[in-house]
Amino acid sequence: MEETKHCRDSLVIKTSLVLPPDTNNIGTMFGGKLMAYIDDVAAISAMRHARSTVVTASTDSVDFLHPIHEGNAVCLESFVTYTGRTSMEVIVKVIAEDLVTGDRNLCVISFLTFVAINEQGKPMPVPNLVPETEMEINLNESAKQRAQIRKKRREDTQFIASTFGVKLPWTDQSNPGLYKDEQKR
Ligand SMILES: CC(C)(COP(=O)(O)OP(=O)(O)OC[C@H]1O[C@@H](n2cnc3c(N)ncnc32)[C@H](O)[C@@H]1OP(=O)(O)O)[C@@H](O)C(=O)NCCC(=O)NCCS
Repeated sequence: MEETKHCRDSLVIKTSLVLPPDTNNIGTMFGGKLMAYIDDVAAISAMRHARSTVVTASTDSVDFLHPIHEGNAVCLESFVTYTGRTSMEVIVKVIAEDLVTGDRNLCVISFLTFVAINEQGKPMPVPNLVPETEMEINLNESAKQRAQIRKKRREDTQFIASTFGVKLPWTDQSNPGLYKDEQKR
């Protein structure tokens, strides 16, 4: 595939008000809700880059650096930072804003990897990325190291998965009495 794209071609910005249904029992944003937003904007960035269906292959760590309170505006920004043959790394930045004081906190930075798939569900090539700004170039260059870490993590996870069975429930099958009390709850 000869086509090239820029980071700005895949830029997505989404701003939402944090309402009571989005929060946990202490009035801060529910982590799972924010993770769904992160996956959502990142997937749109990947689709804008690839102009194809994509699947989430992995999400790097999501560290919640600051709480996001009910009534805050939460703003997510994402774009593609690196491309392999069929995969794309996407960065997501999450900023919370107190709409009364104007104070802002950078709450999360996360990297996700998406793979473009064809109609048969098989990985397909994506356009090359040409980073332009200094920040984009830095992100693009450091992505190679993150890709190596992911590759190792994937191999480790595949090894661990190979040692597990797929029987339910998630208990020690050789000692069925072990979780008897837990199952009664
Ligand atoms: C991701 C998926 C398409 C990869 O398919 P595969 O047949 O294993 O393909 P390959 O091993 O050839 O990998 C294809 C690309 O994905 C990348 N990749 C695969 N697994 C990855 C992972 N866990 N993290 C980061 N990149 C990954 C590979 O590095 C490769 O990139 P490249 O082409 O740019 O070099 C496949 O594992 C899949 O469908 N997983 C489920 C995805 C899903 O359902 N997501 C929604 C979550 S509910």
